[in-house]
Amino acid sequence: MTRNIVFLPGDGVGPEVAGAARKILDAAAERFSLSLEYRECLFGGAAIDASGDPFPADTKAACLDADAVFLGAVGGPKWDGGGPRPEKGLLDLRKALGVYANLRPVSVAAGMEHLSPLNPERVRGVDLLIVRELTGGMYFGKRMEGDETASDECLYTKAEVSRVARIAFETARKRSGRVASVDKANVMATSRLWRKAVSELHAAEYSDVELSHVLVDAMAMKLILAPADFDVILTENLFGDILSDEASVLPGSIGLAPSASLGEGTRGLYEPIHGSAPDIAGQGKANPVGAILSAAMMLRYSLDAGEVADAIDAAVAKALSSGRGTADIGGKDTTSSFTDAICALI
Ligand code: NAD
Ligand code: IPM
Ligand code: MN
Repeated sequence: MTRNIVFLPGDGVGPEVAGAARKILDAAAERFSLSLEYRECLFGGAAIDASGDPFPADTKAACLDADAVFLGAVGGPKWDGGGPRPEKGLLDLRKALGVYANLRPVSVAAGMEHLSPLNPERVRGVDLLIVRELTGGMYFGKRMEGDETASDECLYTKAEVSRVARIAFETARKRSGRVASVDKANVMATSRLWRKAVSELHAAEYSDVELSHVLVDAMAMKLILAPADFDVILTENLFGDILSDEASVLPGSIGLAPSASLGEGTRGLYEPIHGSAPDIAGQGKANPVGAILSAAMMLRYSLDAGEVADAIDAAVAKALSSGRGTADIGGKDTTSSFTDAICALI
């Protein structure tokens, strides 16, 4: 069976890391006799330059028709001037695909604690999964943008909270059985609804899972103080965006962090959590691991090829533990030499 993957390289380091993921997928497809078909489409700033639209109709049609969508990254200073924004294309893509649950795993492998900016003792054993709500909240509320006043509405329905909470509880059952739900219920109405919806679902169907509620400011602190205490961290869109960048540096660099975005069915969107990194774009400095591990998540969740995903994860772990890596984790490799090293291990 041939699987159809749409590639959206995007902007800045996006094409560099998407190219690395593609190389790894090709190597894995050959080794495991998988049939993968790719279609590359314009998206983000690159699509604005070509057509004025960050998410053109033909790109949308291709994505809706695919088994999985892989995105490099979008955005950059070139499109910050007040015209259409590449990031708006990404929000519309997530909404069009209906991918409401964004999984962002962060772990520190045994023996790799030295890559962390924190004391090795503090990050030993870190293995957490942020489940971020991705198609609601402040990202999608009404906006008012005037010269003197601006507002961003934050709206959640109970149904939106319950469906992403269900993913967190189901995932926790397959891990160590703990969910920390993060909100700002001491201030925000949406957070009080969030807490109520999560608690009700927990009591009705998931009382075997250990649930705690943590305020987001305290969670920002605890992620540094005792990150190994957490397993699944469930939170809303904006808090999840911020906390996942924070958590991503526990193993050493945001360049290491992958993500999978899922909805109903198996089609998903896969992207490293970092952005277009304009400061290092075009210099061969981008760490390809976040993108490569995102490709592994794509094989696991959308393409029914878990054993191939395991082989990629193992190759990445082996390359990192042998001391190879890009400059962000203290290594001497370029994006392509590191990618080749991982390819050779598959
Ligand atoms: P960023 O994630 O692009 O970069 C933050 C820092 O991390 C930079 O110093 C960068 O060099 C470094 N970094 C990021 N990826 C790296 C990698 N693979 N290897 C090594 N270092 C890496 O965040 P930013 O600078 O705040 O945003 C730049 C642009 O990217 C903005 O336009 C933003 O909107 C966009 N953005 C896009 C996505 C996405 O497409 N999914 C995600 C985040 C930000
Ligand atoms: C991410 C990014 C996006 C987000 C931006 C580029 C819209 O920061 O994927 O984390 O905020 O969701
Ligand atoms: Mn982000």
